[in-house]
Amino acid sequence: MIEGRREVLDEVARRFLSSHRVARLATVDDRDRPHLVPVCFALEDDSIYLPLDDKPKRVAPTRLRRVRNLIARPEVTLLVDDYREDWTRLRWLMVHGRASLIEPGTGDHDRAVALLRAKYPQYEQMPIAGQPVVRVALSDSRRWSWSGDAWPEPATRDLDFDAVIRGRRSVRAFLETPVPRSLVERVLDAARWAPSPHGRMPWRFAVVTTLSLKERLANAMGEEWERQLAMDGQSTEIIARRKLRSQDRIREAPCCVVVCLYLEDLDRYPDPARQLAEETMAIQSLGAAAQNMLLTAYQYGLDGGWMCAPLFCPDTVRGALDLEPALKPHALLTLGYAAKNPIRRERLPLDTLIVRYE
Ligand SMILES: Cc1cc2nc3c(=O)[nH]c(=O)nc-3n(C[C@H](O)[C@H](O)[C@H](O)COP(=O)(O)O)c2cc1C
Repeated sequence: MIEGRREVLDEVARRFLSSHRVARLATVDDRDRPHLVPVCFALEDDSIYLPLDDKPKRVAPTRLRRVRNLIARPEVTLLVDDYREDWTRLRWLMVHGRASLIEPGTGDHDRAVALLRAKYPQYEQMPIAGQPVVRVALSDSRRWSWSGDAWPEPATRDLDFDAVIRGRRSVRAFLETPVPRSLVERVLDAARWAPSPHGRMPWRFAVVTTLSLKERLANAMGEEWERQLAMDGQSTEIIARRKLRSQDRIREAPCCVVVCLYLEDLDRYPDPARQLAEETMAIQSLGAAAQNMLLTAYQYGLDGGWMCAPLFCPDTVRGALDLEPALKPHALLTLGYAAKNPIRRERLPLDTLIVRYE
């Protein structure tokens, strides 16, 4: 913050704005009537950018009422809000600023278009580059929540279900920002609703957040991995690099959830084939529980990564965390806030995956 000047947006406000996809833009028309429209927007520094896009409209983008209003009276207000039936989670953020049009062909316009495209994949197809972009230079902000100004729990991503499924991505580097316990519990709670064989819920979770326990886990797993990589004939240099990278992922993740298979409540069969099928069902269900957690984490503004390592050294993980013998560590989910936007993996076309449909 520059001395003597109040910060327009603090970290909480920035995260709230960045995690939301729609704002309400208020302008005033030539008869002093308030005019409100929902808008897509992108935030950078202390500016918000609004596209004039090709969504169906009755007039050309630059003839829109909001554009005519803001040219005549550039002071505008934007509101972003969360409505939840649990009213303790209601919140809104209002920002004020001065609007202007950035014309195509300038560096600022290119930058604004790039920001909007990065946030809304729809703009890869829909032309916006040929139209001006509205820049709102923010001057101040106000916010409200049930619990006052602090907003202890970070904002959820304002996404519909389809966007949650498509938006989730594996994140392997996190900010230091801790994840509140209430949020971790919400993520774990989502696992409870996963399908499971006979409804027996054959999974349990060990949550590791303290640095000392993360270190203990990372060190124990690292040593075991070193041994296994040496068995594969890898060079000492590569072994050291891979071991350190894997240990750093655990140490630097604000929260690690070790997902364990728990078979004690499942059916028992006299023959090995059916017993194996029963265990496979439990593993399938563990995957469903893990996916519930990753999607919920994403919905609540977090990011997650999946590490398979515990599967390759279950005894080591159990020992490092003092877990009872009936727990079989299968996966380690890292949770936190992404340090950078990860590359999105391409998917195979649907045709390739459907082997028969009649
Ligand atoms: C069972 C399983 C094990 C995985 N193990 C690892 C792992 O050990 N390390 C890793 O970086 N990613 C791991 N992943 C994540 C995948 O690499 C990732 O899901 C895949 O590349 C697709 O990318 P996306 O999740 O961003 O869509 C694992 C995923 C699954 C389902």
